[in-house]
Amino acid sequence: MDSITIQPAASVRGEITVPGDKSISHRSIMLGAIANGVTTVRGFLRGEDNLSTMHAFRAMGVEINDDGETVKITGRGLYGLNEPADVLDCGNSGTTIRLITGILSGQSFFSVVTGDQYLRKRPMKRVVEPLTLMGARISGRKGGTLAPLAIDGGSLQGIAYQSPVSSAQIKSSIMLAGLYAAGETSVSEPSLSRDHSERMFKLFGASLVRGDKSVTVRGGVELTGQEVTVPGDISSAAFFMVAALITPHSELLIKNVGVNPSRTGIIDILQSMGGDIQLLDQREVSGEPVADILVRSSRLKGISISGAVVPRAIDEFPAICVAAALAEGVTVVRDAKELRVKETDRITAMADNLRALGIVVTESEDGMDITGSEQLLGGTVDSCGDHRIAMSMSVAALVASSAITVTDIACVATSFPTFFPLLEKVAGK
Ligand code: S3P
Repeated sequence: MDSITIQPAASVRGEITVPGDKSISHRSIMLGAIANGVTTVRGFLRGEDNLSTMHAFRAMGVEINDDGETVKITGRGLYGLNEPADVLDCGNSGTTIRLITGILSGQSFFSVVTGDQYLRKRPMKRVVEPLTLMGARISGRKGGTLAPLAIDGGSLQGIAYQSPVSSAQIKSSIMLAGLYAAGETSVSEPSLSRDHSERMFKLFGASLVRGDKSVTVRGGVELTGQEVTVPGDISSAAFFMVAALITPHSELLIKNVGVNPSRTGIIDILQSMGGDIQLLDQREVSGEPVADILVRSSRLKGISISGAVVPRAIDEFPAICVAAALAEGVTVVRDAKELRVKETDRITAMADNLRALGIVVTESEDGMDITGSEQLLGGTVDSCGDHRIAMSMSVAALVASSAITVTDIACVATSFPTFFPLLEKVAGK
């Protein structure tokens, strides 16, 4: 089990880019695979999660070539996938397993999907239930609620589904199944989750109508391969935004970051805390808003975070917790129960880790209260096998009174294989 020891830093400075957006990278492979013609993807994230998606589609006969710069997918059309000869291993990736289950539900063949020890504990009923309503036959452990899942697909009919949770994985899984369903399939959610599927479906020529918090897809419409340029992942940039805010004498320019409004909750939250963050050169690439982000050290203050901003920042709470730990006053997080079913229970993991560094944290069922402090203590913290916990605690180490060791850091490769060298570079080590 690898660990890393990180020393406090004097400043965080420079100009960086972060790797491609994980969500958009997954979707580019999936839509490319079931489109007609060739899809080329630039800026693709070569993290383990996305490689799981790539391997799964190769196992269904899709030709995918990666020359290190561009990923080229030769699409097989909606009905051209082959039955995989073996179980599809989605590794640690919730997006892979939940979205692919939507596609597999529309196939007239048998398939089995599974993942690592963490993914096999994560809830699957949230996609199995609506996909079953559409006509898929899916079984799995614990009454079909946990992976491995066995899918007997084909012959779906459209549904109108009201998702109880704001989740892009649920929404996208149903939308993908909707491509294969008779008639229209619509999904609505309590507040808008990331809308990369909606944007990419449109780009690939799907028949799609959007409402404020809903989307409707017409089945049986073939997609056409596209050229996709993936922007930098705001979820990866978030660690560096927080690093620059909390470390004195810092100024960091993060170039080419995706700033889709359904993902910029982190910027809104950090700005409300008093963070000096500016968006420069805003533009649009492949149907997604992109900007350069300039961040300077700031004196942060505690705030209350709840409601519609939560799904817009859902992956950034570990980093937000670190900002809160260094803010003046109390930061209150609510409506964030989903954090308990991420790669690990992120409420408990962050509460335990921050407490180990001397911070007062109270957990509630759907959030936490964090009382900020001038400084963190050094010590040892555990990633719990979760990439975002590992990276957040590594950023916290920059402002601790002595070194912090983060254990079990191999998981960082799922989303950000170059994280540690980049952190070392900007922190002037
Ligand atoms: C993702 C959706 C989110 C997010 C995950 C990626 C996606 O999950 O946490 O990292 O690409 O659709 P939920 O849909 O479970 O909120």
